[in-house]
Amino acid sequence: MSATLISGKELSSIIRERITKEAAELAAKYGKQPGLAVIQVGENPASTIYVNNKKKACEQVGFKSFGYALPESASEAELLELIDTLNKDPNVHGILCQLPLPKHMDEFSVICKIAPEKDVDGFHPVNKGLLSIGKDCLVSCTPKGCVELLKYANVDMTGKNCVVIGRSNIVGKPVASLMLHENATVTVVHSKTKNIKEICKQADILIVAIGKQGFVTKDYVKEGAVIIDVGINRCEDGKVRGDVDFDDVVDIASAITPVPGGVGPMTITMLLQNTLEAFERIEKGRA
Ligand code: GUN
Repeated sequence: MSATLISGKELSSIIRERITKEAAELAAKYGKQPGLAVIQVGENPASTIYVNNKKKACEQVGFKSFGYALPESASEAELLELIDTLNKDPNVHGILCQLPLPKHMDEFSVICKIAPEKDVDGFHPVNKGLLSIGKDCLVSCTPKGCVELLKYANVDMTGKNCVVIGRSNIVGKPVASLMLHENATVTVVHSKTKNIKEICKQADILIVAIGKQGFVTKDYVKEGAVIIDVGINRCEDGKVRGDVDFDDVVDIASAITPVPGGVGPMTITMLLQNTLEAFERIEKGRA
């Protein structure tokens, strides 16, 4: 039997419709729209595409987007000053600084400068800390999208074995925290782990975020497992593929996210969700 597809495209459009409605109601209540500031430093072509998609998505749901393009030669002090201005701007509720930054800038210092209540990427150590102790906070978009997809597919997470492949600060670690809060038994495996295959084969839920195209084959998958594929790898033939060898596992897994159309569309949708949450919290605090 072939696995059920968990469509991030479908879930994204449902959530974006809800966000559009809520944003309009809140805009009427507070007399302003949610505002997202998007900063890009330099001209990395992939970043330009991401940044434009984020700005476009904002406008589609009735948010304001403020774009800031700094030259590659800008100093870290200039960037920090811009963030300081945006932290104080009452029309800006979310601040996103597209990564990677030029080599002469320290990413951590830049992330730390963003006011935690406007940190819609959920990268600030305050939000990371709140997430790890299970308190309300802005949660990084991709991990948040993974859990939303599992909920949408009605996957019961309580007591299930969840294996996360990859330990990045952006996906692996935060998704492991979120799955713990959903009462799963969580194991994180990474490049130094011994017996990765055997561990993955125990997983009821397998979340794959390593950035290696086709890494997970049927030898890693237990019959009936649910697979969330976070990978976005552009191949030589121009197609985008995931970290999972989809064709190889599709008859073993019970459900799987496709690439494209799975986790990808959820990332920007969760950014919109975070911006709406930040807007509501900030404006409520001002009232
Ligand atoms: N670069 C790649 N992914 C991301 C992301 O989620 N947020 C930011 N700010 N930069 C990124």
